Amino acid sequence: MFNTLKKSVAKFALKYVPKNSIIGIGSGSTVNYFIEELSNISSSIRGVVPGSIASEKKIRKYNIPIVDLNSLENLDIYIDSADKVNKSMEMIKGRGGALTREKIISSVAKKFICIIDKSKYIKHFDCCVIPVEVIPMALRKVSEEIIKLGGMPKYRENFITDNRNCIIDIHNLYIENSVNLEKTINNISGVVSVGLFCIRKADLLLVSYADKIKEIY
Ligand code: 5RP
Repeated sequence: MFNTLKKSVAKFALKYVPKNSIIGIGSGSTVNYFIEELSNISSSIRGVVPGSIASEKKIRKYNIPIVDLNSLENLDIYIDSADKVNKSMEMIKGRGGALTREKIISSVAKKFICIIDKSKYIKHFDCCVIPVEVIPMALRKVSEEIIKLGGMPKYRENFITDNRNCIIDIHNLYIENSVNLEKTINNISGVVSVGLFCIRKADLLLVSYADKIKEIY
């Protein structure tokens, strides 16, 4: 059921792709559906900045040009999914481990369009797992800091990010102020980036339900 919802929101998002544009895209199963849709209009775009090696491979398969972010001043749009989105359009991302590249690309984009199925749209971030990309030599130090913040760090076994780092998933962390928490975790030495996307939120949220797609600004 959720795959059908992911597919339908991915297809719907196509209408937001400007003609002749270079767009940023993220990673994951919803984005994979979006890449498939994008392949149908590939001749009308100039290229894509991908958020992960997996997305890049898939995009190349469809002969869509890959663009280096360093060659661009900015991007019109960035399209990606999320693990959770709250009513303030803040997101938690990184279950696929691509959070850092996704954060970099989205920070350059004028508009972040987040595409999700209804199961991910929630009121508050209570009890959500927050992924953090960590430099391997800092695993212990970062874990200790997370415990001090009240969270329970869990090392993600057998997983290496595209940047050759590790992931710590934070469980049971009470979020009082999401923007402050994002800054605090990002400031821990050894943290590459945290999967809280609350400073740079979504500008447009597309949520798929069985009978409709909701566009939320
Ligand atoms: C990857 C992400 C993904 O956007 C997020 O995990 C959602 O994935 P899916 O579309 O497979 O449910 O943040 O780092």
